[in-house]
Amino acid sequence: MQQLYPGPRDLQLEELYEGLTLEPGEGRASVALGMVASVDGGAAVGGLTADLGGDADAVAFRRLRGAADAILVGAGTVRDEDYGPPRGTPERRADRVGRGLTERPRLVIVTGSLTLSPEHRVFGDPDHPPLIVTHEQAPTDRADALAQVADIVRVGRDDVDLCAALTELHDRGYRRVLCEGGPRLNGALLAEDLVDELFLTVAAILAAGETSRIIAGPAVDPPRPLQLAGVHEHDGELLLRYRRAR
Ligand SMILES: NC(=O)c1ccc[n+]([C@@H]2O[C@H](COP(=O)([O-])OP(=O)(O)OC[C@H]3O[C@@H](n4cnc5c(N)ncnc54)[C@H](OP(=O)(O)O)[C@@H]3O)[C@@H](O)[C@H]2O)c1
Repeated sequence: MQQLYPGPRDLQLEELYEGLTLEPGEGRASVALGMVASVDGGAAVGGLTADLGGDADAVAFRRLRGAADAILVGAGTVRDEDYGPPRGTPERRADRVGRGLTERPRLVIVTGSLTLSPEHRVFGDPDHPPLIVTHEQAPTDRADALAQVADIVRVGRDDVDLCAALTELHDRGYRRVLCEGGPRLNGALLAEDLVDELFLTVAAILAAGETSRIIAGPAVDPPRPLQLAGVHEHDGELLLRYRRAR
């Protein structure tokens, strides 16, 4: 693996993002997006990410999870990717604690419809229930069922107010949020200018197809400028780190 910027310097794959820290937010949780795309900009292959990322992406994914207080994810991704609870190995949990974090990041699911079965594997670790973020108009019967397996918070009248959600997360002690997508949640965050950082793996493949880009939804006007913060390369895969330029 090479670190191209700043750099260059050679490093071992396992040194990628070693000791990574995310900037904690003030007033609201900060948001780092962690995404992977094909060279032609596709965010999925056959509706899934499994065939996109290589070894370096897997290390980046793990390091990002290791640096976040909470993992934010849209219900679409939980359903499509059949998400499970974040567990980590004993070594990774100890590493987090050594760096002043909780043993595991809290999983936070954004859903307006509450269309998630309480039997879904994402609720499979009763000691670490996800936090579900929904809105005031979300169906009460589904909320009652999901309250058995998750904590539920309502922010916003008929849509999730994402800024209020991030304030709520901050106030609960989750000041560094890693958003793992998907594209529609990312688009809603970008629309509110709530994306502070982007970790993007460019997988060395061309995929075509009708798949979404990493951020979906209406164009933001003006486009949000970014500052390059890091570039790594491994086996043709590029790992880009950008910060929102404010
Ligand atoms: N390339 C990558 O790194 C990456 C990462 C993640 C996912 N993906 C891919 O992306 C696809 C899934 O992503 P997606 O864009 O379809 O879905 P998504 O962004 O994961 O989830 C969208 C859902 O989140 C909820 N939501 C988001 N913002 C909301 C708001 N402001 N208010 C209320 N609810 C809100 C809604 O849930 P309800 O429908 O329940 O109301 C909405 O339908 C899959 O193909 C997956 O493989 C790729």
